[in-house]
Amino acid sequence: MSNYHIKHLEEYYQVYRKSVRNPEVFWEEIAEEHFLWRKKWDKVLSWDFAKPEIKWFEGAKLNITENCIDRHIYTRGDKTAIIFEPNNPEEATQHISYRELHDRVCRFANVLKDQGVKKGDRVCIYVPMIPELTVAILACARIGAIHSVVFAGFSSKALSTRINDSDCKLVITADGSYRGAKTIDLKGIVDEALESCPGVKTVLVAKRINSAIEMKPNRDYWLQPLLDDAYHDCDPEIMDAEDPLFILYTSGSTGKPKGMVHTIAGYMVYTAYTFKNAFQYREHDVFWCTADIGWITGHSYIVYGPLANGATSVMFEGVPSYPDFGRFWDIVQKHKVNQFYTAPTAIRALAKQGAELVEKYDLSSLKVLGSVGEPINEEAWHWYNDVVGKNKSPIIDTWWQTETGGMMITPIPFVTPTKPTFATLPFIGVQPALMDETGNELKGNQVEGRLCIKFPWPGIARTIWGNHQRYKDTYFSTFENMYFTGDGALRDEVGYYRITGRVDDVIIVSGHNLGTAPIEDAINEHPAVAESAIVGFPHEVKGSALYGYITLKEVGESRMHDNLRKEINQLISDRIGPIAKLDKIQFTSALPKTRSGKIMRRILRKIAERDTSNLGDISTLLNPEVVQEIQERAL
Ligand code: WTA
Repeated sequence: MSNYHIKHLEEYYQVYRKSVRNPEVFWEEIAEEHFLWRKKWDKVLSWDFAKPEIKWFEGAKLNITENCIDRHIYTRGDKTAIIFEPNNPEEATQHISYRELHDRVCRFANVLKDQGVKKGDRVCIYVPMIPELTVAILACARIGAIHSVVFAGFSSKALSTRINDSDCKLVITADGSYRGAKTIDLKGIVDEALESCPGVKTVLVAKRINSAIEMKPNRDYWLQPLLDDAYHDCDPEIMDAEDPLFILYTSGSTGKPKGMVHTIAGYMVYTAYTFKNAFQYREHDVFWCTADIGWITGHSYIVYGPLANGATSVMFEGVPSYPDFGRFWDIVQKHKVNQFYTAPTAIRALAKQGAELVEKYDLSSLKVLGSVGEPINEEAWHWYNDVVGKNKSPIIDTWWQTETGGMMITPIPFVTPTKPTFATLPFIGVQPALMDETGNELKGNQVEGRLCIKFPWPGIARTIWGNHQRYKDTYFSTFENMYFTGDGALRDEVGYYRITGRVDDVIIVSGHNLGTAPIEDAINEHPAVAESAIVGFPHEVKGSALYGYITLKEVGESRMHDNLRKEINQLISDRIGPIAKLDKIQFTSALPKTRSGKIMRRILRKIAERDTSNLGDISTLLNPEVVQEIQERAL
């Protein structure tokens, strides 16, 4: 276990240098010591960012569920793997032991096999935050099926696009979900989605809210009776290291979502190693990541990373505001949570409610606080540090992406001195580079540029499902021989990194990545709309919110505008999901354009941000006069 837990800053630098000087030797040692392999690899790493092609632990054979479940049964069979905390605090918490998890995963795996699911098949999982979600994921991994989890807050259109993109034949869902005081008709959303998914033959439905839903004969089956009848053991499918484990969709700057493909061995090694070190997880700790498993944060740090370490991981079904804004702290107290991992948007929302709601609870169990998903602003950082952490639990501001599989830049608690709004130092094995716009690397400290990574790490996504060219274009074509993250960053005088935000057309709203193009596509479907452009603007709680500039085909009376605004947001909600709704909609006679017809988003962004002191040279625009109009009527 020598280099598995970093203990002090000197050791960090030592291990870091080793990991960078000889990454193969470094990761091979980690892989050898801490995991269960049916066969060891022939080659640790082969890579070529120009193709791009990346392979870790090639030739190795394994099953990730043996690593996440089976091997713990001998030493930690009765230990709780998952604590399920329901939406309603009156409902009983569930403690699922490693032994029970094994039983449930095996049964589910057998159900999938009975339904004809085979190794390599894609299974869509559209399930709320209930234990069946984790079990379904692991059941797929057990039999070598590729899971594609779709966040159960996405609309039917978003769901069907994702189902069709990866040809899923089977969908797992629930009769509905709880969200605070509301219920959501998930099955209805699935039914609507499947009207345009002819490839789906089977739907398995978990019962959660006991609503009267329609079951389509010969397609829809209640899950529980099948599980009850299934055999409780299931031999794991022996997989190749580079076989796909899952697909997870993320927004791009253009068009349809990108199905990022993660492969088994590298992802396992990376999530397990980062989990253990970045949270300094110890055997009897209780870890809680508040993300939804529908996002990468939940995949890596509710399911795979914690379970690969034999940890106890909390899974919370509800929302931070139900029954009141003290719920998170109630849960921390109830389960004596030691590591707590959440998003800046949640921190800001809770900070708005005042400190009393936090102080009511005993938070003395907390050792480490984490943040992820977007830059954390200074005020939120201090509130988190002072009010929640009482100045004794270090905050790890972890920067990473769906594409990176696990954390990339983060302090190591009790090791790296923290600094508000800084993700600080690269994680072990991660080689960041800052590039200027002409493609030169900015060496030394006190520089700002585009954030790239120079060398592969085990957790990097290997391709975009069905579109390797797009993978290459998006991540490996902007800078030669570099993985380009899409983020900007600065490196301060001591080498600490601060992420400054996206440099492309992705906007992060409440921690969710939203591409502007799909939202504009949705708006443009409205019969009255001629054209639209979306930009982000700073928002107190959401971090960024969306501002839409819309031109109409016919200039209507302004009293019609409020109705139009409602209709447009409804359309966005239907096509993408409520998270993509616009906070502000300004109708304008035209959009500012370059002579080649490109919308000048930079100007629109400045107006939305109310930063119009320096709009730059607008005289070269095709229609400079419209800028004045937009400015005068800005919301
Ligand atoms: C942003 C989430 C600043 C960033 C794990 C990145 C952050 C995108 C941070 C990926 C952070 C994530 N500080 N920005 N600590 N963490 N981001 O794919 O822009 O949902 O590219 O993965 O979120 O979001 P994704």
